[in-house]
Parts: sequence; C-alpha cells; structure tokens
Amino acid sequence: MLGLKLPTDPRWVNIVEKNIEEILTDHAYCEQKAASTAISLIVSFPEYTDLVQEMIALVKEEISHFKMVHDKILERGWTLGRDRKDEYVIDLVKFFPKGGSRTTQLVHRLLYAALIEARSCERFRLLSEELEDKELAEFYRKLMVSEANHYTMFLGFARQYGERKEVDQKWQQLLDYEADLMKNLSKNETIHG
Ligand SMILES: [Fe+2]
Ligand SMILES: [Fe+2]
Repeated sequence: MLGLKLPTDPRWVNIVEKNIEEILTDHAYCEQKAASTAISLIVSFPEYTDLVQEMIALVKEEISHFKMVHDKILERGWTLGRDRKDEYVIDLVKFFPKGGSRTTQLVHRLLYAALIEARSCERFRLLSEELEDKELAEFYRKLMVSEANHYTMFLGFARQYGERKEVDQKWQQLLDYEADLMKNLSKNETIHG
C-alpha cells in the first residue's frame, strides 16, 4: 500500500522497546518538523491555492500530534528533551539535484514529504503490532491512519502539479534510493533511524 521497497526489520521494535523515552522524544520532533514543513511549503509556494489550503489543515493536525506525544511524555513522568538530528531525512533530501524550475522544486519537496510520511506510517504500523506496551501500541495504531492519508495527499499533489509520467518515474527512483538508505538503518530507537 505504501510502495516502500524495503520493509523495516521487525527487530527494530526490540531496540525501541528498551528506550521508550528516546523514541517518544524523537517522535515528538518528527511531528514538529511535519508542522514546520507544511508552513514552509505555504511560504515558498503561496500561489498553489489547493496546496495552501491543505497545508493549513496539516499544520493544525501535525501540531495536535505533537501535543499528543508531548502529553504521553508528561504522563510517563518525563520532560521533553532536545531535538535529535534525523540522519535519515538529511540523507534522503540529497537525492534530487538542487535548482530547476519552481514546479520542479515543488514536486521534489512533495515527493520527499510523501516518502517521509510513508516510512513513518510503516514504522507506526510496526509499533502498533509489535509493542508489548499495549497502551502505546494503540496510540501508534491511531497515528498510523493519519500518516497514511498524508502520504497519499503529498503524492497526489506532486502528480497534480508536475507532469504525471515524470513524477511517477521520480517517485520510483526515490523509492529505490530510500530502500538503499534503509539497509543501513533500523538500528536506533528513533522513528526513522
Ligand atoms: Fe503526524
Ligand atoms: Fe504526517
């Protein structure tokens, strides 16, 4: 359903399970970055009205996810720590060459966003199925549904604004590249690590 070419090694959940505070911290910042990305798309591409309308809704949704994760951290008696570097995203966004027309740049940013949402969704599904902490598993099941909708929305906008055939080709190339990145990941207690 998500098109990902390499599934996450399920042993990643065992690593996560040993350090719930760490995964919640990393996850909280993923939600914050998702909200920031939506704002940044509005600022960079204000003339794309449909996109702007959807990004306004997305900012609200992602910041409400941030609150949900933040509340979980507080419930468990912790305080939100500092942001972590997301090496996965840093490497992912090196794929497409910089520059090109505005539309090209927009399409690239939409495809990156779609992929990050797809991988997050896959990771949430794994957590919802494999975590022994049932309360947290249920929490991730609900979030998984939202992220799947975000993935299809971003991919849909890329296809709407770009040239369909070219966008589909780029999407396949990005999926291959991401699968390659994934080979060296699934080793840390972070959402994308
Ligand atoms: Fe989210
Ligand atoms: Fe999302």
